Amino acid sequence: MDYLRKVVVLLLVHQYFGWLTLAGKISGAEVINFANRQPSWAPIMHMCANLSDITSIRSFFEFRTLDPEGTIFYGDTKEGQDWFVLLLRDGTPEMQIGKANILVSVKGGPKLNDGAWHKLELRSEGKYVVLEVNNKVELVVGLESEQTEDKLTGTIRLALGGMLVNEKRLLQPFKPEMDACIRGGNWLNISTLWDTDASWVLRPCFPEIKRGSYFPGTGLAIFNTSDLPGVETEEKGITVEVSGSYHGTILSLQSPGFEYILSEIEGYKENKDLTMELKEGSDSALPLETSKLTLTILKHSLMLNGYTVLQDESFDILSRWREGMLLAFGGVPGEIKDSKGTHPLQGCLEKISIQGEYIDLDQAFFKHISISSHSCPAKALNELT
Ligand SMILES: *[C@@H]1O[C@H](CO)[C@@H](O)[C@H](O)[C@H]1NC(C)=O
Ligand SMILES: *[C@@H]1O[C@H](CO)[C@@H](O)[C@H](O)[C@H]1NC(C)=O
Ligand SMILES: *[C@@H]1O[C@H](CO)[C@@H](O)[C@H](O)[C@H]1NC(C)=O
Repeated sequence: MDYLRKVVVLLLVHQYFGWLTLAGKISGAEVINFANRQPSWAPIMHMCANLSDITSIRSFFEFRTLDPEGTIFYGDTKEGQDWFVLLLRDGTPEMQIGKANILVSVKGGPKLNDGAWHKLELRSEGKYVVLEVNNKVELVVGLESEQTEDKLTGTIRLALGGMLVNEKRLLQPFKPEMDACIRGGNWLNISTLWDTDASWVLRPCFPEIKRGSYFPGTGLAIFNTSDLPGVETEEKGITVEVSGSYHGTILSLQSPGFEYILSEIEGYKENKDLTMELKEGSDSALPLETSKLTLTILKHSLMLNGYTVLQDESFDILSRWREGMLLAFGGVPGEIKDSKGTHPLQGCLEKISIQGEYIDLDQAFFKHISISSHSCPAKALNELT
């Protein structure tokens, strides 16, 4: 635990030192990237307006994601007494509304996490809240109670990528973190500037995206293996599969007295064989024909694409897996500088699975903010220039 805490503190210090900025103002019509932040319920930006200045409670924007779950848009009146939130769950839009002691949740419409831009519009029409997707009404929620007042007074607050009320007030919790982009926003038909969160930095969105997790070469994601799919039989062990196009350190596995680093040293190029360097025991290099790696973890050995790459009769790796090792994708925990000659991963991991289960980097207990969990640039970034 101590070791782990040290590693995380070190990584956080590094992370914030790199990205320290002050809260600022931004126009709601900008291209806004929701990714690249710590998991948080706090919005990346919010604004407040007088209801008396507003002629229509209607907002629309374009939205693009490959992420199945996360917060999109929040609004409230009466300082959060009445609130609503628009989110994605399983890729499908969902609205939750809290008003005068009523909690409502509705879900429906098309799946939006296909990587294409979609136009979303939300509006309030008296007792109804309406969601349109691509100019088609998809969800309508009607809400009335003896306590609701028809005349709206006071202020209205809007927020993107998070909420301004405590998440305990939700009818159905969800994971707030969202790897998405918004553009062309029109919020209540007013041009009020939004306040941005101090820990958030506006980064450009990739022009086009494809499925995968993008590592720009500045950070890693760490799991405790006890949170990951477990051992079914000792004969089969644990199978970790990774595919994509990348260079640098793909993954590392650590436990006191044990370290294994899987690192690609030659630099990945299309149509070129990968050479993997194996950094435990032997320094043998292993030629691999594809960018698809299968690491099999057995009780006393590790196998990479069918080759034994490590053997240690004195060490029970599967027991350590159950108890909790550090499995990092994209680097080696604790190594900020490449002191061992390894480089943080740069590129796209299109698929990461363990025991056949898809691994979502949003579930990692540490993920560097530079990583986009659910999107990679459709073209390699050096091809874009
Ligand atoms: C709302 O109106 C009040 C008084 O009419 C004013 O003091 C306040 O600054 C306004 N707030 C915003 C956000 O415009
Ligand atoms: C939106 O704002 C513009 C200019 O401020 C105004 O001309 C227009 O009528 C407004 N639209 C609505 C629907 O209120
Ligand atoms: C992993 O999680 C287990 C169970 O929660 C915990 O006992 C262990 O200390 C954790 N391992 C590390 C390296 O933090």
